[in-house]
Order: sequence, then C-alpha cells, then structure tokens
Amino acid sequence: MGFENILTEVRGTGARQTGLITLNRPKQLNALNDALMDELGAALKAFDADAAIGCIVITGSEKAFAAGADIAAMAKFSLTDTYGADFITRNWETIRSVRKPVIAAVAGFALGGGCELAMMCDFIIAADTAKFGQPEIKLGIIPGAGGTQRLPRAVGKAKAMDMVLTSRMMDAAEAERAGLVSRVVPLAELMGVALAAADSINELSGISVMMAKESVNRAFEGTLADGIMFERRLFHTLFATEDQKEGMDAFLNKRKAAFKQR
Ligand code: HXC
Repeated sequence: MGFENILTEVRGTGARQTGLITLNRPKQLNALNDALMDELGAALKAFDADAAIGCIVITGSEKAFAAGADIAAMAKFSLTDTYGADFITRNWETIRSVRKPVIAAVAGFALGGGCELAMMCDFIIAADTAKFGQPEIKLGIIPGAGGTQRLPRAVGKAKAMDMVLTSRMMDAAEAERAGLVSRVVPLAELMGVALAAADSINELSGISVMMAKESVNRAFEGTLADGIMFERRLFHTLFATEDQKEGMDAFLNKRKAAFKQR
C-alpha cells in the first residue's frame, strides 16, 4: 500500500498477523487532513479484508498521536465545505465499519479529532506521556467526530463537560482512572505492549472475536434488553463453529487451542 500521510506494516509471525498503521505527518503533529483520513480509511479497509490479518493497531509519533483535525485546512471552510461536502462523515467513519479489533496506541497529544479517532478504536493503550483533550471550543467550534458522545460514555458527564467546555487536557493517569484508556505503560514499552495485545487476539478464533466486538458495541446503542438479546443470539451462533469445538476440547484436554478460523 503506497501512502503519503500514513505508514503501513504487517507485524507478527503467527498464523494471523497485525496490521500496523502509523499516522505520519510529524511536522504538523499528525494533524488529520482529508488526504490522511482517505488513506487511513483505505488502509483500514484493506487490512479488514485481508484474511491473514487478525487485528489492527493505529499509532502516531512519540510527540503526538494526532493534535486534531487540520486547523489550517479548516480555517477557511464554509457551510458548503462542511455540511455541503459532508465533512467528517465522508471519510472519518470508515473505522466504524471495521469488523476486526482496532487498538489505539497513544503517546503524546491526542487532541480534538485525534482524541475522537482514538475513541473510535476499540480500546486505547496509552503511554505515560499521553494527553487527551477536546480543545475545539477554543477555536469557536465543538467536537465533530463523536467527541461529545463518546467522551461522556467513556468518562462520565462531569469530566466530559469539564474537558469539552474548558479544553482542559487529561493526562494518562487520569485517563486510566476515568476509564478512557485500558492501560498505561511507560513510553518505551507502548508499541511492545500494544503489539503483544494484538498478537494475543490474533491467536483466537476470528469469528468469536468479531462477534465479541460487535456485541460490546451494542452496549452503546439501544436498550439493555436489546443488547442482551443480541449478545445471546451471537453466543448461540458460535456453537456452529469448529473453533468453538476446538477451544473447548483444548481446554478439557489441557492443551493450547489451534483455531482454524472456521
Ligand atoms: C494544523 C497543527 C495542529 C492542528 C499542531 N499543528 N496542531 N496544524 N492543525 N490541529 C502544527 C502547528 O501549527 C505547528 O506548525 C506544528 O504543528 C507544531 O505545533 P506547535 O504548536 O508548535 O507545538 P507545541 O508548541 O508543542 O504545541 C502542541 C499543541 C499545539 C499543544 C498540540 O500544537 C496545539 O494546541 N495544537 C492544536 C490542538 C487543537 O486545537 N486541536 C483541535 C483541532 S479542531 P508550524 O508550521 O508552526 O511548525 C478538531 C476538530 C475535530 O480537531 C472535528 C472532527 C474532524
């Protein structure tokens, strides 16, 4: 895949591997412009369609995961450029259709659209240098890629209002306490830990992994009763897979499961 604003690599040596995407506009602190978001969408789709890939990791640089949408590009936008051209929806939403797990490995700034992109991933592993924020209000706008919706779901109304209204940044320790990130690790260990988490997912039955992701995401839509029924039906369905037979047989025979992805 030849891209200008991101780097893509395949990592891992197991039967299924990890698609690693590195946001790569370091001079602009990985500010997310249209070209980058188009490339990110294309890379995500390609990895999602590749049967050899079990999991995707998105990362940035040590200084910035991403400092937000590109302010230089947005500065002159009119309503025609935003509503008229379907700004954000047209190329930021691809990640929502990815069925394989997507892990954000965040160091440095994750601000505005950068924080929103991290929150669109399935979980966030943060370096101890990470800083999260929604500073759009200082620019006379508000978060536009889901920040006002996903942040309160992650950290509750009080902290979300504080961040969105005052533009206060949250450091990694606070982000972990608040539930925005799943783990905080020293910066030097960030990629090792994120890729190890991806590797552990790669070893599993991909069908059960996709169903688990889809079911957890249901917790954020609709009622609890609907979500539980959705989960129940996926749970029932997994008994039609060979991987379920293999996983349970392996446990009962005290051996490691060898999933066949079917
Ligand atoms: C365009 C950006 C940028 C951004 C940084 N840069 N953030 N360019 N868009 N979001 C550029 C700077 O202009 C500068 O370019 C270079 O990156 C280095 O940044 P500095 O400001 O010099 O670095 P530093 O002093 O270390 O400060 C880091 C920072 C600051 C605190 C992250 O850059 C900052 O506040 N950035 C903006 C953060 C922000 O407001 N994000 C929200 C954007 S709105 P030069 O050419 O001078 O070297 C948004 C809306 C989302 O995200 C809606 C959905 C799409």
